[in-house]
Amino acid sequence: MTKPLRLPLGVGLIGCGNVSDSYFTHAKRFPGLIKILACAGRDVDRAKAKAAEQGLGRGCSVSELLADPAIDVVLNLTNPTAHTAINLQALRAGKHCYCEKPFAVSYRDGLRVLAEAAKRKLRVGVAPDTVLGPGMQTCRKLIDDGAIGKPISATANFLNHGSEGWHPNPDFFYQPGGGPLLGGSPYHFSALVTLLGPARSVSAMAKTTFKERLITSQPFSGQRIKVRTPTHLAGVVEFAQGTVATVTMSFDVWAHHLPALEIHGTEGSLQCSDPFQFAGDVQLWTRETKQWQKVPLLHTDEAGRSLGLAEMALAIHERRPHRASGEMALHVTEIMEAFFRSADKGRKVPLKSTCRRPAPLPSGLK
Ligand SMILES: NC(=O)c1ccc[n+]([C@@H]2O[C@H](COP(=O)([O-])OP(=O)(O)OC[C@H]3O[C@@H](n4cnc5c(N)ncnc54)[C@H](OP(=O)(O)O)[C@@H]3O)[C@@H](O)[C@H]2O)c1
Repeated sequence: MTKPLRLPLGVGLIGCGNVSDSYFTHAKRFPGLIKILACAGRDVDRAKAKAAEQGLGRGCSVSELLADPAIDVVLNLTNPTAHTAINLQALRAGKHCYCEKPFAVSYRDGLRVLAEAAKRKLRVGVAPDTVLGPGMQTCRKLIDDGAIGKPISATANFLNHGSEGWHPNPDFFYQPGGGPLLGGSPYHFSALVTLLGPARSVSAMAKTTFKERLITSQPFSGQRIKVRTPTHLAGVVEFAQGTVATVTMSFDVWAHHLPALEIHGTEGSLQCSDPFQFAGDVQLWTRETKQWQKVPLLHTDEAGRSLGLAEMALAIHERRPHRASGEMALHVTEIMEAFFRSADKGRKVPLKSTCRRPAPLPSGLK
C-alpha cells in the first residue's frame, strides 16, 4: 500500500517549539520503529541549536529537510495555521506526514491534505495519540464489553483561563486555529470518537468574553494579545449510534468541578481518564455495585507523544491501517468547524464526514 517497508523510519521534525522536546524524549522509546534524524523551522539558527541540543545529525531549513532522501516521514509540529501548508509540502516531497493537532483549521484544508496523500499513496497521521494510551484503551474495553450498557450521554469539559500565563509564545492560542476548541477539544473529540464512533450533528453557541489577553509568561510578559477567535463554546454533539454529548470548551473560566470526560449508560457510568493524558484514573459505577470503583488499567506501558507516530511506522511496515489516522482527524475537524457554523447560524449542523473507530491497541503496539 505505502512505501517504505524498512524500519526504523527516518523522521524529520518541523517546528522546534514548545512541544518538540516531548517528541524528542518519547520517540527514543521506539528505536526500532522511528528515528528523528533532523529538525527544521523558519528560524534555521533555532533549528540548528535544537539539533545540537538533541544530538541530531542536522538542523536545517524546511526545504533542505524535505529534500533529504533519508527522511521518510515529516513530523509536523508547527503552529496550527501552518499545518496544512507543511503537510502538503511534505506529501509533495514524497514523505508520509504525522501532524500535531489540530489537523487543519478548516475541513476543506483537511480534505486537501487527505486527497494529496491518497493520490501519492502516502500516510497521514494526526495527534492526539493519547487515545492510544492505557487510560483511554481501558475505557474503550469497558464500553465494548458492555460495562455501562448502551451509552446514553456523555459530558466533555475543558475549562481554564488560557495559555498566556505559561506558554512562551501564547499568541496563536487566540487566533483562528487556536482557542479552546481547536486547541483543546481534539483530545476530547478523538476520545469520544474512539469510544463511541462517529458523530452525526452539532448544535452550539460561542462567545468571546475578553477581547484582549495580558501575557504574564516569559519572554513576552506585559504584552497584550488581540483575541480573534471565540474563547467560550458550549454545544451538543449527537453521535451516529445515538449518544448525546454535552461539551464545554473555555479559556474564560478560572475554576470548576466538571469532569474532563464521563460517559453515562443504561447500566452505569464511566469516568474516563483525562483525555490530555496517556494514563490516568478510570472509575466505573454500575447498578450492581452502586459505587464508584477505580478500574485497573489494561496495561502499564509507558506512553508519551510519538506513540501514534511509532504505531503508524509499524502499520506502514505491516501494510495495515494506522490508528491515529487522518480520516479520524478530518471527522474531528468537521465536528469542530460545525461548532462555529452552528453558533453563527443559530441552528443544528448535520455532519457530512464519518470515520472508522481505530482498532483497540492493547499492549506493546501489537
Ligand atoms: N505546547 C504544547 O504543550 C502542545 C501540546 C500539544 C500539542 N501542541 C500542538 O503542537 C503544535 C506546536 O505547538 P507549540 O506549543 O510547540 O508551538 P510553538 O512553541 O509556537 O512552536 C511552533 C514552532 O513552529 C514553527 N513554525 C511555525 N510556522 C512554521 C512554518 N511555516 N514553517 C516552519 N516552521 C514553522 C516555529 O518555528 P520558528 O521558531 O522557526 O519560527 C515554532 O518553532 C501546535 O499545533 C499545538 O497545537 C502543543
